[in-house]
Amino acid sequence: MDYPEYFARFYDIIYNSMRSEVDTDFYLKKISETSGRVLEIGVGTGRFFAAALKKGADIYGIDISKSMINILLKKIDLEYHGRVSMQNAVDFRFPFRFNMILAPFRVFSHLLTVQEQLSALNNIYDHLEEGGHLIFDLYVPDPALTASGMSNYTDFSGEYEPGKKFSRTVDMKADIVNQISNITMTFRWDEDEVARTESWNFKFRFYFRYELEHLIERSKLALDNIYGNFNGGELTEGSKEFIVVCCRL
Ligand SMILES: C[S@@+](CC[C@H](N)C(=O)[O-])C[C@H]1O[C@@H](n2cnc3c(N)ncnc32)[C@H](O)[C@@H]1O
Repeated sequence: MDYPEYFARFYDIIYNSMRSEVDTDFYLKKISETSGRVLEIGVGTGRFFAAALKKGADIYGIDISKSMINILLKKIDLEYHGRVSMQNAVDFRFPFRFNMILAPFRVFSHLLTVQEQLSALNNIYDHLEEGGHLIFDLYVPDPALTASGMSNYTDFSGEYEPGKKFSRTVDMKADIVNQISNITMTFRWDEDEVARTESWNFKFRFYFRYELEHLIERSKLALDNIYGNFNGGELTEGSKEFIVVCCRL
């Protein structure tokens, strides 16, 4: 699914403030500890990618959204543009393998069907060196929020440039049987003294712990562990994140 231009445009403003504190140190450390090639699937605007390249990582990135890739390309020198390509997790191809593959910030929630999920996992396996790892994260479903949904919830309000206002509101209704959140994000911002509004509807897949274990068991990958936070903590009742670590044996 291609992210709309306006979402790509405001992505860093929203998630540098809402997310980067949670996951950036973790992923940059994993990248810097890897000797050999790294692939980031769903590289997006390059929240980690641009910094990793600067630190000398041998990193490649793929994404299916042209809008997101266009933002990333503006952050990196022309000589590195060949490291970024528009490819799908499900069927990407490289003529070489990787020592580490990452899919940070809920990329797997965009894979709605079991067929897509398994194809992606097996494709990742085929592109890993023996002993190489896959790390991805997902959110742990919140039972209360899943039941109540969300209505007109403003999760970001600020300025995208000095004096230019921008806000985002979210509506969400969960389909429990299909484990799908039906989400509408509405963006409102000032542009040339005109008030702009755009809404984007999309589906996001949520996962449960044993489902993840069984899914990986069905794939060619081996599960190392599912952690409950980015500090290596165990999964507990209060965990908000699944950090899934798999290996090509
Ligand atoms: C929530 S963003 C995360 C971006 C980046 N990893 C980060 O942490 O900021 C999810 C990204 O995954 C990409 N994506 C969604 N489905 C994909 C797929 N099947 N293959 C590759 N990328 C995908 C989206 O275009 C988007 O850029």
